[in-house]
Amino acid sequence: MPAVKGLTDFYGQRHRRCDVPSASVELVLSCEREIDLIELEQLCDAVGWSRRPLRRVRKALQYSLLRVGLWRHDPRLPKLVGFARCTGDGVVEATVWDVAVHPHYQGAGLGKALMLYVLDQLRSMEVERVSLFADPGVVAFYQAQGWDLEPQDRRCAFWYAP
Ligand SMILES: CC(C)(COP(=O)(O)OP(=O)(O)OC[C@H]1O[C@@H](n2cnc3c(N)ncnc32)[C@H](O)[C@@H]1OP(=O)(O)O)[C@@H](O)C(=O)NCCC(=O)NCCS
Repeated sequence: MPAVKGLTDFYGQRHRRCDVPSASVELVLSCEREIDLIELEQLCDAVGWSRRPLRRVRKALQYSLLRVGLWRHDPRLPKLVGFARCTGDGVVEATVWDVAVHPHYQGAGLGKALMLYVLDQLRSMEVERVSLFADPGVVAFYQAQGWDLEPQDRRCAFWYAP
């Protein structure tokens, strides 16, 4: 009989399960599971972002410091329902890009869980400062999680204590 695969087999050692109200749904964050470009495109479509050529997206992911996916777990085929990535030097600075949670899964605390996971991964690299460019309608989402606005009020910055 084939061995039953656990979450670590699907998502790697550093995966994190998300608390969700429904017992029938299992949502998992991972920075180790590979991101499927078509699934990512579908997610970006779902949140209304304009399309980018897949070969450019592949390269952007390849050169990113961190790629985080949020999957609705299904042992046959996990479904990507959230995403974020970071660029940076991996030591001093990082910038977060492309934060998205599929509309069907929004409003359940998953965006917050995704950002916490991203910051935990960056903290484990000992990155000292994290920034992001928030769309105007989302600034409050980040501010509520402790991000500050830079003086020109255009960019959110998260500072770590040295
Ligand atoms: C922004 C986004 C990632 C939030 O994801 P989410 O899973 O709905 O967020 P959560 O449920 O974790 O929300 C956490 C808190 O932030 C609040 N919040 C969520 N979206 C918000 C917004 N746009 N503005 C202000 N507050 C917001 C929630 O009400 C919740 O508040 P609470 O803790 O007091 O209950 C999601 O709405 C999304 O993907 N949007 C489209 C893409 C996008 O705009 N990305 C950001 C680019 S900068």
